[in-house]
This record gives sequence, structure tokens and C-alpha cells, in this order.
Amino acid sequence: MQLSKIIYLLFASTALSATTPPRRTSTSLRATSTPAAKVATPRVLKPATPPTMSDIKNSLANWNTSVYTVNAYLNDPQNTTKLASATVFAKDEPVQLATMMKVAGLSTSGVNAGKILMGNFGSIVSNLDSVQSGAMSTNDATAAVNFNRCCTVLPAIGMLWQAAATATKVGNVSMPALEEQCGMMSCASGVSGGEAAVRANGSIAANR
Ligand SMILES: *[C@@H]1O[C@H](CO)[C@@H](O)[C@H](O)[C@H]1NC(C)=O
Ligand SMILES: *[C@@H]1O[C@H](CO)[C@@H](O)[C@H](O)[C@H]1NC(C)=O
Ligand SMILES: *[C@@H]1O[C@H](CO)[C@@H](O)[C@H](O)[C@H]1NC(C)=O
Ligand SMILES: *[C@@H]1O[C@H](CO)[C@@H](O)[C@H](O)[C@H]1NC(C)=O
Repeated sequence: MQLSKIIYLLFASTALSATTPPRRTSTSLRATSTPAAKVATPRVLKPATPPTMSDIKNSLANWNTSVYTVNAYLNDPQNTTKLASATVFAKDEPVQLATMMKVAGLSTSGVNAGKILMGNFGSIVSNLDSVQSGAMSTNDATAAVNFNRCCTVLPAIGMLWQAAATATKVGNVSMPALEEQCGMMSCASGVSGGEAAVRANGSIAANR
């Protein structure tokens, strides 16, 4: 959505709320506090330390939504509405990462996967911000993000999810959905779940 359109909608909704009687449903409250919000926001969670099984279920649900939302943008990179959502949800991923890293008895592979993610989330968020600000071209920024997510981040997320779910007895979880580009790129020799994470782990180590 163009900025001018967003500003227009903002003014339109302000004008509307000034001339209509106040409604007291929670829906109208939400709509009033975030007028430009076609863009949903991630749920704010309050996990215990260490997180419980239910905290991890909620964290997985948030994180899964973020993966889906960021994928949706990367699958349709000219769509600025999807970009706005992706930048918001990408910033919730480090929050869920911090929660999962606090799981008691997290396996070594889970801890390692988390460390990989800590080293990679910064550049993803900053690349998405750069597309939004115009500091980087959409092509350059999304190519970097695609490579990083397909070859390193998404496989590591899968490993951490499984480790956190196992340690808190949530059970088996599905792997994060891959964006479309993942099927068209070769990381070292193709991407597939855990194997790719192990390779990614190695390449991260080599790059430091
Ligand atoms: C962009 O994405 C939004 C949200 O999914 C959708 O409603 C809109 O139709 C898309 N715009 C274009 C031009 O495809
Ligand atoms: C979890 O996954 C493993 C390996 O894929 C499988 O053997 C096991 O039956 C699964 N457990 C549940 C509860 O689905
Ligand atoms: C993520 O969402 C998809 C689609 O709704 C679902 O099939 C999958 O089980 C979810 N994964 C997790 C870990 O919650
Ligand atoms: C990641 O790399 C470290 C250091 O090389 C290694 O100890 C660890 O086992 C690796 N983890 C995985 C999941 O491959």
C-alpha cells in the first residue's frame, strides 16, 4: 500500500471516529488504537522462566505465524502490505527465540540451532527494514533474506522447535514452511530440514 493511501486511511478513520458515537466492543477499541492496522501484530506472550509446555505451545504458534507471514512477503516481494506485516512479525521471532532458549534441559542441537538464529536474525530484520526505507533494492534485499532463511534460518528454526517441544513434552512438531524460493536455490547441495541445518551450522562457523 502506498504511503499516501495509508495516510488517507488514517485520516478517514480519525474523521469517522470523531463523528460516530463511541462503541465499547473490544473490536472497536483495537481498531481505534491502531487505525492504519490492516497489519496484524503478533500476540504478546508472558512465558514463565523456565517456559512451561503451554508457554512453548504458544511460542510455537506465534513463531509459526511469523514464518508464514515472512514467507508470504518473500513469495510476493512487490506487495508492500505484505512487507509491512513481514517486518512486524520478523521482529517477534527473536522474542520467541529468547523464550525457547530458556527451556530447561534444551538439547545441545537445540542450543546450537538457537545460537545460529541469534547470529542471523539481525540481518534479516535489517534487510526487511532496508526494503521499507528504500536503502536497498527489493531484489538485493530479498535475495539476501531468501538465501539466509532457506539455507540457514529455517532449518535451524526446525531444529530449535523440535528441541524445545521435546524438552517440554509438547511432542513432535512440524518443520517450518519454506518459502517458494527455497525450492529454486542450492545452498551447498540443496535444502532439506536437519541436514541443511547441520551444513548451515558448519558454514556459519566457517564464516566467523
Ligand atoms: C497485497 O497483499 C495484501 C494482503 O495479503 C492483499 O490484500 C492485496 O490484494 C495484495 N496486493 C496486490 C497488489 O496483490
Ligand atoms: C514423532 O516422530 C517420530 C519420528 O518421526 C515418530 O517415530 C514418532 O512416532 C512420533 N511421535 C508422535 C507422538 O507423533
Ligand atoms: C504451522 O502452521 C501450519 C499451517 O497452519 C500447521 O500445519 C503446522 O502444524 C504449524 N506448525 C507448528 C509447529 O505449529
Ligand atoms: C554445530 O557446530 C558446532 C561447532 O562446530 C558443533 O559442536 C555442533 O555439534 C553443531 N551442531 C549441529 C546441529 O550440527
